[in-house]
This record gives sequence, structure tokens and C-alpha cells, in this order.
Amino acid sequence: MSVEEPRWFHRWEGELTPLDHLRIAELLSAAFVSTSHQFRDARSWAGARPELRLVACAGDTVVAHAAVLRRFVRVGRADQLVGELGLVAVHPDAQGNGLGAQLLARVEERLRDLGVPFGLLNTDQRTAAFYARSGWCALTGVASRWADVDYPWQNADLRDPLLVLPVAAPLTRWPGGGVVDRNGGVL
Ligand SMILES: CC(C)(COP(=O)(O)OP(=O)(O)OC[C@H]1O[C@@H](n2cnc3c(N)ncnc32)[C@H](O)[C@@H]1OP(=O)(O)O)[C@@H](O)C(=O)NCCC(=O)NCCS
Repeated sequence: MSVEEPRWFHRWEGELTPLDHLRIAELLSAAFVSTSHQFRDARSWAGARPELRLVACAGDTVVAHAAVLRRFVRVGRADQLVGELGLVAVHPDAQGNGLGAQLLARVEERLRDLGVPFGLLNTDQRTAAFYARSGWCALTGVASRWADVDYPWQNADLRDPLLVLPVAAPLTRWPGGGVVDRNGGVL
């Protein structure tokens, strides 16, 4: 797939058309093979509904996508505003060419525009290095908890990295606490 100069744009959730959802869902089901059933019927999200999408298109095909949701999470006794990141994907035919890194640079720019102190993201060991290259920092020994449709309380495995991106605040301002509680669905 030739993606030398994809067209980048962002859209608020309320601006997406049914065709936008279909094209994003096609990318997500191609990129997340083991959970592709979540993106059937043009459903372009898996858990919590995003508020903002960052998209790169080559022709009519969505080749890269990330979603953002601003929210407060509970960390110990503190309420912390974050821009949660999720549904990060590059089309399998276009991976390994720097699109993912470009996507994360645009995510950071957008989080800065939104004025959030931190980005927040759950990932797995295999993919954490990809985010670390773009400045995302692992919170060691911190678990996260969210509401799940099938399991009312889902605890992330402590071995799965919870990553924070310092945006408008330094990492030293992240509140102490062993659990980050979303009190809602994960993005
Ligand atoms: C993860 C993903 C978005 C990376 O996109 P990409 O376009 O292939 O990434 P890039 O080519 O921009 O790679 C940027 C850097 O991260 C590294 N990298 C890419 N994927 C990686 C991975 N899965 N694990 C570790 N490092 C990775 C690259 O080697 C590169 O490093 P370099 O700058 O030193 O060369 C893409 O592989 C993908 O969509 N995977 C399936 C869906 C997924 O797992 N999403 C993340 C969910 S949390």
C-alpha cells in the first residue's frame, strides 16, 4: 500500500459520518486481528466512546487512527484530568514505515491543544517500546481498573504497562497511588 503522503485530519465524534465509522472500523478490524469481532457492523470503538479521532487516509482507505477521550481518573484520593488514548492502529500493509510515530506526534500536538496535563494509555509489554520512543512513560507498580460490559470490574494485569505522557505538566506532578480507577469503560 502506498502511503507516502497520507492525508491527516482530526474529527470530533459528533462530526463522523456512517461512512467514516465504516472506514475506521475496517482499519481497526485489520489491525486488531484477535478482537476484530468488536468492530463488526461499522462499529469503530470497543469500550468507552472517544470524543476525538486522529486519522490518516490514503485515498478512501484509513491507514492510521488514534482516539482521544478527556476524563478524570481517580488515583488514590486525587481526581486527575487526563487525555486517554486508545484505538491506536496503523494498517498492517503500512506498518513499519514511521506512520505510527507520526500518529503519536500528532496525538501529542492534539493533547497539547486540548490543554490536558497528561496522556494516559493501557498497553501490553510488546507494544510499550513503541510508545516509549515517543515519550510515553511506564508507571511501574500501578494497576488500572475500569468497568467492562462482561466483567463489571476488570483489573489490568500489573505486568501490563500503564503509560503516561507528560503534556502540560511534568511527570513528577502525577499523583501517587497504586491504582488508576477510570470508573467507566476503557477507551
Ligand atoms: C503499534 C503500531 C501502531 C506501530 O505502527 P508503525 O507504523 O508500524 O510504527 P512505526 O513504523 O512508526 O515505528 C516507530 C518505532 O516504534 C517501533 N515499533 C513499531 N511497532 C512496535 C511494536 N509493536 N513494539 C515495539 N516497537 C515497535 C519501530 O521499530 C520504530 O522504532 P525506530 O524509530 O527505532 O525505528 C502498529 O504496529 C499497529 O497498528 N499494530 C496493531 C495494533 C496495535 O497493537 N496497536 C497498539 C495498541 S496499544
